[in-house]
Amino acid sequence: MELRTLKIKNIGELVTYNSHLFRLERVSDAEIYIEDGIIVAIGEELGSADHEIDAGGALVTPGFVDPHTHPVFSETREYEFEMRVAGKSYREIAEAGGGILSSVRSLREISEDELVKKVAQRMREFLKLGTTTIEAKSGYGLSTKSELKSLKVLNIVRESMQLDIVPTFLGAHAFPVEYETDRNAYIKLICEEMIPAISEQGIAQFCDVFCEKGWFEVDDARRILNTAKNYNLGIRMHVDEFADSGGAILAAELNATSADHLMHTSDEGIHNMAESGVTAILLPATTFFLGESNYAPARKFIDEGVNVALATDFNPGSSMTQSMPFVMTLACLYLGMNVEEAFIGTTYNSARSLNMEDKVGSLEVGKQADLIIWNLKSLSQIPYWFGGNNIRCVIKCGERVVDFSD
Ligand code: NIG
Ligand code: FE
Repeated sequence: MELRTLKIKNIGELVTYNSHLFRLERVSDAEIYIEDGIIVAIGEELGSADHEIDAGGALVTPGFVDPHTHPVFSETREYEFEMRVAGKSYREIAEAGGGILSSVRSLREISEDELVKKVAQRMREFLKLGTTTIEAKSGYGLSTKSELKSLKVLNIVRESMQLDIVPTFLGAHAFPVEYETDRNAYIKLICEEMIPAISEQGIAQFCDVFCEKGWFEVDDARRILNTAKNYNLGIRMHVDEFADSGGAILAAELNATSADHLMHTSDEGIHNMAESGVTAILLPATTFFLGESNYAPARKFIDEGVNVALATDFNPGSSMTQSMPFVMTLACLYLGMNVEEAFIGTTYNSARSLNMEDKVGSLEVGKQADLIIWNLKSLSQIPYWFGGNNIRCVIKCGERVVDFSD
């Protein structure tokens, strides 16, 4: 069978992580040659292809990999934003029955078909902002039926879209009202019914737990995640978002793939994560959107040798943004990361946090042709020019999926 070939020519600067040299690489005046969606050459004057795209001297980078999102919800929660602006805290709103539980009520009501439409629409928005691979969590169902519905919807959308979606089961996101007086019974339901059903259907790759005082305590999280491990699910965790509850230490103990949030993690937690090779996923848009100032100690993680990735945490309560460029801006301004670190954190390191760095997260021979042609000239213009969309074209597996040119 004939190979379908595509050439991206006239690239002013190509910026990518180089996984052989372990550093960022900037190539001037480059071309990329693609066969059947895979990069086969990067260089100069690479010969003709069936299709050619002229980058017009612009910046080209890999597509973003967003390794922590909650896109499977029904309704937005702007009234909570108004309450927070008026002085209520995220925790107060949650304790009054709002927050995650309000999303649970509407998620349980919406039909599968309607939910597919909403999630697919959100995925199209991610693509427009340059995200070509995304981790996506359930967690607004909190019953076997509605958690399975959420994960099924992610799998349906994945089949129909040019976007890599990695589904994560987050039944341990909150305690549903019907189990509020018997929390152990809900943990038992997760371990004995939800995880086995999800594993049997093969609809999630990871299991996550919101490990935080008042939500799932360390012992609850350990029980759930050990069960998930026995069913061959990978492990991700929400830890130390509002207080240091020992979540990072548990993530290290369990050899989790990632521990996320980490705004209050102790030095011991950081050290243990480094020893166990747990990726730190930092979510500065959440700290920003909650109006807080205690950003995660990114430099400490980097100095300890932890793989640091960045994500949007897109969700209707604590981070209503889908923009990885905006996350880069926040990482530079408030996490003390330099532009290169922020870029690697949103591309290669985030691909590593999903065990996908052999396929996505960098532009190298043998990897998927997932890339962004920008209306920009240089890497530092991405976080610098914030608040709009500076993308011209998004290519996923060699196909043009977004085109704002003309
Ligand atoms: O990662 N903190 C837990 N989960 C989300 C918030 C979910 C919501 O408010 O709907 C987070 O910030
Ligand atoms: Fe989250």
